Amino acid sequence: MKTTPSLDEKRIVKEYFNGTGFNRWRNIYGTGEVNQVQADIRLGHQQTITTVLDWLPADLRGFTIADVGCGTGSLTIPLAQRGARVRATDISLKMIQEAQNQARIQRNPQGQFLDQSIEFGVSDLEELQGTYHTVICLDVLIHYPTPQAQRMLRHLAGRASDRLIFSFAPQTFFYSTLKKIGSFFPGASKATRAYLHAERTMTETLTRLGWYPHQRTQISSRFYFACLLDCRRNFGN
Ligand SMILES: C[S@@+](CC[C@H](N)C(=O)[O-])C[C@H]1O[C@@H](n2cnc3c(N)ncnc32)[C@H](O)[C@@H]1O
Repeated sequence: MKTTPSLDEKRIVKEYFNGTGFNRWRNIYGTGEVNQVQADIRLGHQQTITTVLDWLPADLRGFTIADVGCGTGSLTIPLAQRGARVRATDISLKMIQEAQNQARIQRNPQGQFLDQSIEFGVSDLEELQGTYHTVICLDVLIHYPTPQAQRMLRHLAGRASDRLIFSFAPQTFFYSTLKKIGSFFPGASKATRAYLHAERTMTETLTRLGWYPHQRTQISSRFYFACLLDCRRNFGN
């Protein structure tokens, strides 16, 4: 049976994160022993999480947040700890199970287990329903070609009432060259394909829908590269 390229890409990503990718990324996002490359990626990723948490209010009670492609819950857990009601979804069942296990054993300052304020779901981010104050999508768009990433952003923008925060690997001359010579992601066999996106293309996709980039930052280490954008809805439109 012939499948469309976009479905094919999703199938590959889903299989990867339910298979070899699950253990690899659970280790990186965890606290156990990792090799030097993974330790570097862990630090870069932690910086992304910390930056997003710095951009959000310390007290998130009353906020609804969707964390799509939530992985093992690196962001979902602290969001729930701050009092947000979180919808956490991922295309990988294994990832959701891991995030759920984490949420079941941790409590918020009021003493409630975090899974009480998180609604987990195994689904493709383009199936996200409902409206949330903030929609967040970290380190997911790297798995998809630019036209697909744009389509995903358009869908997520339609589900956010106020803020859309997302990251992607930026397509600069430097990173494109690194990727071409094969050193962008070490151990290519261990990874899915990595797609770089031009920041301008990402922001233009959203400005056409009445959003604007409120703040941005770039996080880079030896093996981790992310452009992080916090976009707001332009209520003047
Ligand atoms: C590199 S991990 C990032 C996890 C998490 N956002 C974080 O920063 O800790 C990418 C995650 O995106 C998920 N993912 C990939 N494509 C997806 C899609 N189309 N819809 C939902 N989740 C997806 C993967 O299963 C994986 O858990």
